[in-house]
Amino acid sequence: MDDLKWAKNVSEKIKKKVAVVAERNKHKIPYTTQDKIFDDMSEKNICWWTNGFWGGIMWQLYHATKNDMYRQIAEENEIKLDQNLMKARGLDHDNGFKWLPTAVANYKVTGNQESRNRGLLAANNLAGRYNPVGKFIRAWNDEGDGSKAGWAIIDCMMNLPLLYWAHEETKDPRFIQIAMIHADMAEKYFIRADGSVNHIIEINPANGEFQKTYGGQGYEEGSSWTRGQAWAIYGFALSYMHTKKESYLNAAKRVANYFIANIPNSGLIPVDFRQPQDCYLEDSTASAIAACGMLEIAKQVSQTESHVYQNAALRLMKVLEQERCNWDEDCDHILEKCTAAFHDREHEFAIIYGDYYFIEAIWKLTGEELFLW
Ligand code: GLY
Repeated sequence: MDDLKWAKNVSEKIKKKVAVVAERNKHKIPYTTQDKIFDDMSEKNICWWTNGFWGGIMWQLYHATKNDMYRQIAEENEIKLDQNLMKARGLDHDNGFKWLPTAVANYKVTGNQESRNRGLLAANNLAGRYNPVGKFIRAWNDEGDGSKAGWAIIDCMMNLPLLYWAHEETKDPRFIQIAMIHADMAEKYFIRADGSVNHIIEINPANGEFQKTYGGQGYEEGSSWTRGQAWAIYGFALSYMHTKKESYLNAAKRVANYFIANIPNSGLIPVDFRQPQDCYLEDSTASAIAACGMLEIAKQVSQTESHVYQNAALRLMKVLEQERCNWDEDCDHILEKCTAAFHDREHEFAIIYGDYYFIEAIWKLTGEELFLW
């Protein structure tokens, strides 16, 4: 089967399954499944960083099928997130993950002005996390003791598109200036000589001096958390697309080349490329996110180079589809063996952004994607 035919076939499987799953989970904001049934973060934690991905799946499905049920579910997700927008302690650098696939997606599709307002509130709050002395966007909150005031994390590269969108929308250069200063900092401090990336870095928030790196959600300090590598590939590719600054494309390629060189023979991605050799824990989300990033890089480079990234993405996606997808319509999730963090008690379960990026990658291949970043 040729690659496009394969992707179209998977796309049909997604549409068939999500139609059933969305109908029975209409009023939830899922994070994971318990006994194959989605949980509901709108009850457990409305400020959780993944609460935009269900809305994102719904907008992708609406875009591809025009079935109004998906739009209604996405709008319910977006309105529920207003509780988060009014809670300062629940707002952090993940505003991009929450409001790009919900409010900004809605505004792009329908022109809804209330959604535009939500997107701009989220963007202004994100810009407010910028530290002008350290030249970075602060990642997480702390207990009010300032202990995380100097922390920046690689994942933030995926939140910068909220600032690029706010710049395009308002023509106020502050948004793109902050995003690019952060991306320049990330290029300097996150990417190592071999193309791998750190998860967390700390900069002295008072005088701007670089302090240290942390292992974060990976195996240890100096290791190579695969989802972090994937955020870097996709995030730098997105910064290049929005700014055309060549060094961002080079950064995305360097990390992608490192990632491709470390894909195991199985094509299945571990939680950390440097976890112990007798540890086989996987993270399917890293695979789907890296594939999305590689497919975007492939569009930006010469034809010869493009094959490298396109083929690597296809390999990752085909292995996921053959070995890690659950097409049973009685089970709410699609992607299996996703892992939040190496040192968590639980590993290899369903996670909503695994499904989101799997769908996004397939629809990049079929041309059905609603571009959200
Ligand atoms: N952004 C947090 C994570 O990737 O787990």
